[in-house]
Amino acid sequence: MGVSYHHCLQATYVSPHMALPYQRLYVNIDHVATLRQARRGSTPDPVAAATVCERAGADGITAHLREDRRHIQDDDITRLAATVTTLLNLECAITDDMLRLAETLRPAQVTLVPERREEITTEGGLDVVRHETAVRAAVTRLKQVGIRTSLFIDPDEAAVRLSQAVGADAIELHTGTYAHHPGSAAPLQALRSAAALGAALGLAVHAGHGLSVDNVGPVAAIPEIEELNIGHAIVGRAIFIGLDAAVREVREAMDEAREADRF
Ligand code: PXP
Repeated sequence: MGVSYHHCLQATYVSPHMALPYQRLYVNIDHVATLRQARRGSTPDPVAAATVCERAGADGITAHLREDRRHIQDDDITRLAATVTTLLNLECAITDDMLRLAETLRPAQVTLVPERREEITTEGGLDVVRHETAVRAAVTRLKQVGIRTSLFIDPDEAAVRLSQAVGADAIELHTGTYAHHPGSAAPLQALRSAAALGAALGLAVHAGHGLSVDNVGPVAAIPEIEELNIGHAIVGRAIFIGLDAAVREVREAMDEAREADRF
């Protein structure tokens, strides 16, 4: 598989005169459900929020059905599958129940994530090395019914290579370390290297976690990243400026980053 890290970085040089390809924004609406679940009622409805996001320019909707059902519920996923007019990205752990649900509802994309009940949010990438057999089996199962598969991984060379080896269509690079260490160069460099390697291996490259209008620029500017998944910051910002404006604001920041210094 003769693609070296060095080779990738050289091979993916993008001329400043070339515009970067359009980058998709998928909005994660989990935390609309978090607010609803605070009262166990019916509002605010994440499915209605998804429609607002789509009207504001979201290219897709992401929802994470956690095993503990702390925010998104099964019924939300069923309704999203029926109403999303863009593309639905179902995030889930590798369990038989989740894979069966995906096979039934057929979202456009499934992003496989690690899940620990005690965590506050998805705290690290999927350990593809340790769980290779299970990840390969899940990817195979989803691909058999035509679902695009993405693996949420840390920006790590071995994880990128193994993601390709198990047959995933895409990787989503965990941007948490980048987001939690503002001003530190190493996490951004790790994302750049992993994105370049993933693209060189033929994987679609996505990224997400902890991104906001304030820190999205440098990640959005990574040429190979074709999709960002952003949730908490958009839903939080919506409290102050509304959901429509919060989506548009991030979209603009992404576009600016991909156009910066290019003409
Ligand atoms: N991508 C994945 C795989 C996630 O698990 C999450 C968090 O649910 C996100 C993106 C979005 O992260 P945030 O809510 O911090 O924007």
